[in-house]
Amino acid sequence: MTQDELKQSVARAARDYVADRLPIGAILGVGTGSTANFFIDEIAGIKDRLGGTVASSEATAKRLAGHGMRVLDLNDVDAMGIYVDGADEIDGSMAMIKGGGGALTREKIVAAVAATFVCICDASKLVAVMGKFPLPVEVIPMARAHVARELAKLGGTPKLREGMVTDNGNLILDVHGLAITDPVGLEEQINQIVGVVTNGLFARRGADVLLLATMDGVQTRVR
Ligand code: A5P
Repeated sequence: MTQDELKQSVARAARDYVADRLPIGAILGVGTGSTANFFIDEIAGIKDRLGGTVASSEATAKRLAGHGMRVLDLNDVDAMGIYVDGADEIDGSMAMIKGGGGALTREKIVAAVAATFVCICDASKLVAVMGKFPLPVEVIPMARAHVARELAKLGGTPKLREGMVTDNGNLILDVHGLAITDPVGLEEQINQIVGVVTNGLFARRGADVLLLATMDGVQTRVR
């Protein structure tokens, strides 16, 4: 199976998960990235069961709308049953690195509202210790250099993501060279740096369910 076929298989499994567990008429949160895109295409087939969707990026909102799905403002939503999104890395505690596509802030906000976070990815994303994938940190533009200096003190090598402006008008620093043995602690520490909007560690609120695409089929893990 190619990586795209693995993503397709986990997208289908996530569609079935949503169809089985999300009450008819309830709100679904939808993530960002190539795996999430496969998922969006799959849920087009069950759109009549959904009360509406909330998108974690402009790109996702556009794709959902392109399939004729209702995209709601998060502020108009009181409750969200399930949020489905990909990850750049996930460890055994279901903590994740996210933000490879730059949508980490909106993803973290939507995830905070959802009752259940369903992570969908292929087996290459499951790691013992996170950090090989550079950790994205969204920063207010005027704080870029200050935040980079502070991140370097934590042992990483921050690099500005060239040509990237987030949906919120901010910049992304990708932090290379970290070995993340305490994801919750590091997430909190980075959040304390003035000028940081969000960091891509989703550890305090990790995934509740992991649907993992392997060559032998999709495995389900529950936190
Ligand atoms: C988007 O900002 C990210 O958090 C994505 O969820 C993550 O990068 C996974 O993307 P892929 O499914 O494209 O690997």
